[in-house]
Amino acid sequence: MGRNDRIGRLGPSEPADLFMARALELARGVRRLTAPNPWVGCVIAHDGEIVGEGATSPPGGPHAEIVALAAAGARARDATVFTTLEPCSHRGRTGPCTDALVGAGVARVVSAIEDPDPNVAGRGHAALRTAGVQVEAGVGAAEAEHLLAPYLVHRREGRSFTVLKTATSLDGRVAAADGASRWITGPAARADAHERRADSQAVVVGSGTALADAPSLTVRNAQPPLGPPPLRVLLDARGRVPATGRLFDPTLAPTLVVTTDRAPAAARRGWADAGARVEVVDAGRHGLGVDLGEALALLARDGVLQALVEGGPTVHGALLEAGLVDRVVSYVAPLVLGAGGRAGYGLDPGPALAQAPRLRLTRVTAMGDDICLEYDAIGR
Ligand SMILES: NC(=O)c1ccc[n+]([C@@H]2O[C@H](COP(=O)([O-])OP(=O)(O)OC[C@H]3O[C@@H](n4cnc5c(N)ncnc54)[C@H](OP(=O)(O)O)[C@@H]3O)[C@@H](O)[C@H]2O)c1
Repeated sequence: MGRNDRIGRLGPSEPADLFMARALELARGVRRLTAPNPWVGCVIAHDGEIVGEGATSPPGGPHAEIVALAAAGARARDATVFTTLEPCSHRGRTGPCTDALVGAGVARVVSAIEDPDPNVAGRGHAALRTAGVQVEAGVGAAEAEHLLAPYLVHRREGRSFTVLKTATSLDGRVAAADGASRWITGPAARADAHERRADSQAVVVGSGTALADAPSLTVRNAQPPLGPPPLRVLLDARGRVPATGRLFDPTLAPTLVVTTDRAPAAARRGWADAGARVEVVDAGRHGLGVDLGEALALLARDGVLQALVEGGPTVHGALLEAGLVDRVVSYVAPLVLGAGGRAGYGLDPGPALAQAPRLRLTRVTAMGDDICLEYDAIGR
C-alpha cells in the first residue's frame, strides 16, 4: 500500500483536507508526550504526494515541522507544508520553525489555527509571509481547536484546562445512600477512565473524595504511548486528609496538596514529610475550600495543560459555579441509587432553569453496559 492509499482512506475530499487530516492524526499520536508544549502534526506535500511528515517530540526535542523537514530533505523545496498549529517564530529550547521552513525553500504553509502563545500569536505566520512564503490559515480549524483545547486554554487563560469526570447511576448519583461508590460502572468504563488520566498532566480530587475513597489516582493499564505519570492533586483547605495511604506514596507518582492557611501546621508538615509538595492559596468563594482559579493557575505554572477532576460533587459544583469547567466526561451505569444517593454536582439549592449551566454534547459511546457522554463547555 502506497502513502497516498493510506491518505485516501481518511475521508475528506479536498487534498488540503486530506493532508491536514493526516497532520491531525500525527498530532493525536503524540498527545501524551509533549506537555507543556502543544501536540502538533506536520505533513509536507509536493505534487500531491507526501514527501515528509512528523509530530512534536517530547520537551527539548524538535518540533513537528523540523521532524517533517528532516524527513523531506531536498524534496521540501517548493512544497506545501500542512501543520495543525502556526509554526513558532521564537527561539525556545529549539530554533524558530519559521527559519527552518524558509531555509528549506517551502512555497506554502497551510495551518489549522494561530498559536495563542504570547511568543507566537501571529508572528509565525507574519514571518513566513515576510520571507515570501504563501500562508493559509484555518484549514481543519474546528478539529484542531478540539484536539488542542487544553493547550489553547492554558496559553489564553493562564490556567489548566479542566475535564470533570463522573461515574453515575441512571438517576445521576455518584454514591449510594451509605456513601459507597465502588463500583458504579463496569470494567470497560473504568478502563476508559484510566485512558483519560493518561491524557492528563494532573488528576485532582477534593478532600471529601480522598477521605471517603482513599484513591491512588494513578494510571493503570492505559495504552501506550504514556507520558510521565500525572501529578496527583488534593484540594484540602483545612488539613483534614492524613498523609497516609496510596495517595501519599511517592513511589507511585508525585503528589501536590493545595491548601490554605486554615490547615494546621502539623497537617502541612505531615504532607511534606510524606514527600508531597504543599502549596498555600487563598480560601475559595464564601471562604470555603481553596480558591479554584488560583489552584488552576498554580497547576498551569507547573506545566499542567489538562487537569482531570475526579470529584467529588462538592468540587464539581464549585468549579461549575466558578465557570471553570471546560469538558465533562460522564459514565452512566444502568442502575438506580435513589434519592438518598449523592447527586453528582453539589449545587445547593441549584440554579433556576434559565441560569443552569449548559454544555454541548460532543460524543456518546457505549462501553459494555454503560454509556460515556462527553460534553464541552459552550464556547469551547
Ligand atoms: N462516582 C463518582 O464519580 C465519584 C467521584 C468522586 C467522589 N465520589 C463520591 O463523592 C463523595 C464525596 O463527596 P464530596 O462532595 O465530599 O467530595 P469532594 O468534592 O471531593 O470534597 C469536598 C471537599 O473538598 C474541599 N474543597 C477544597 N476546595 C474546594 C472548593 N473550592 N469548593 C468546594 N470544596 C472544596 C472541601 O473541604 P475542605 O474545606 O476541608 O478543604 C470540601 O468539603 C464520596 O461518597 C465519594 O465516593 C463519587
